[in-house]
Amino acid sequence: MASQPPAARGRFITFEGGEGSGKSTQARLLAERLKHAGIDTVLTREPGGSPFAEQVREFILGQKHAAHAALAEALLFYAARADHLEATIRPALTAGKWLIADRFSDSTRAYQGAAGGAHAAAIETIDRVVVAGTVPDLTLILDLPPEEGLRRAADRRPAGAASDPFESRDVAFHKRLRAGFQAIAAAEPQRCAVIEASGPAAPIAAQIWRTIEVRLLAQRGL
Ligand code: TYD
Repeated sequence: MASQPPAARGRFITFEGGEGSGKSTQARLLAERLKHAGIDTVLTREPGGSPFAEQVREFILGQKHAAHAALAEALLFYAARADHLEATIRPALTAGKWLIADRFSDSTRAYQGAAGGAHAAAIETIDRVVVAGTVPDLTLILDLPPEEGLRRAADRRPAGAASDPFESRDVAFHKRLRAGFQAIAAAEPQRCAVIEASGPAAPIAAQIWRTIEVRLLAQRGL
């Protein structure tokens, strides 16, 4: 938050991207590397990241709900996010920790907004109320063609397991999703960095680390 001196607040990093982009692996690798560098780091995910938000996650990603509008879905993600912020994110940042979230508000903008059809203005209004000043310092958007991501997601799924409700949407949905993330990155270049996510994990992790060094560690004189 701009109103707080940098030393008093940790850093808030989010990972974003479509299905099978390797975000979760990269978020974990970054958390390990930051800890190794002596930075107290918390790794969380959305939907989830607090006990209540994990319960909302079970409902949203479960197969039991009736058909519903994209805006209703966005509100559920924001209900989970409000609790995640209150219970996990803000306390960690206030304590000076670095917090890495595997997905955050840009997922709602891209999945329920750009791809799902919920009005961007409605999402931004809700975001201002729920997220308020707790905007990420850096958002890493892992970008790859949707066909490749969906193939990866299907390959890593255990035999017989159902795909999640978003993974199973058609390729046109996933193309709008990718365009949605790219538009967010173009609109907010100060906050966002696009990471080319095709190929093996190690060089992608190295590129992410360079981005962290340039955008966050250099500011702290580390
Ligand atoms: P998850 O199993 O965590 O998948 P992934 O590894 O892709 O993150 O499932 C989260 C799903 O929820 C994913 O398909 C994206 C979707 N999602 C939204 O549609 N809107 C949101 O705001 C968030 C946080 C997630």
